[in-house]
Amino acid sequence: MKILVINGPNLNMLGIREPDIYGRVTYTDLCDMILEYALNKNIEVELYQSNHEGDLVDKIQEAYGKTDGIVINPGAYTHTSVAILDALKAVAIPAVEVHISDVDAREEFRQISYIRSYCKATISGRGVQGYLDAIDLLNNGD
Ligand code: DQA
Repeated sequence: MKILVINGPNLNMLGIREPDIYGRVTYTDLCDMILEYALNKNIEVELYQSNHEGDLVDKIQEAYGKTDGIVINPGAYTHTSVAILDALKAVAIPAVEVHISDVDAREEFRQISYIRSYCKATISGRGVQGYLDAIDLLNNGD
């Protein structure tokens, strides 16, 4: 089982950005946590973060034929990007959408997700634990 974990814009600023909303765990901490979790479950994990929409599309395309599942937090592109939705549909790899904060309880514009219709599940408001829950969902094939 190989899982690609993709984080979009500003998620490299975790621990620094709005800690009251996103917590104090840094992006490096998050990566370490995911790698350790996956190692214990014998899951191969690749981590990727970019602030650029086209780079996120490229990464999803590169995963074609090489990855069994995608965990994706597109950050603000969640609410705007048809291109990321189309990339996920193009590669047809099972994906789970993750948000650290509870996007459905925040501003109205955050309640729109272009990728939600494609993803097997959306996990939001569980903090960084959401990434681990998403890995479990893909690993269990639910
Ligand atoms: C986020 C929520 C988005 O609305 C925001 O733009 C982010 C992070 C989350 O993880 O809660 O960058 O995806």
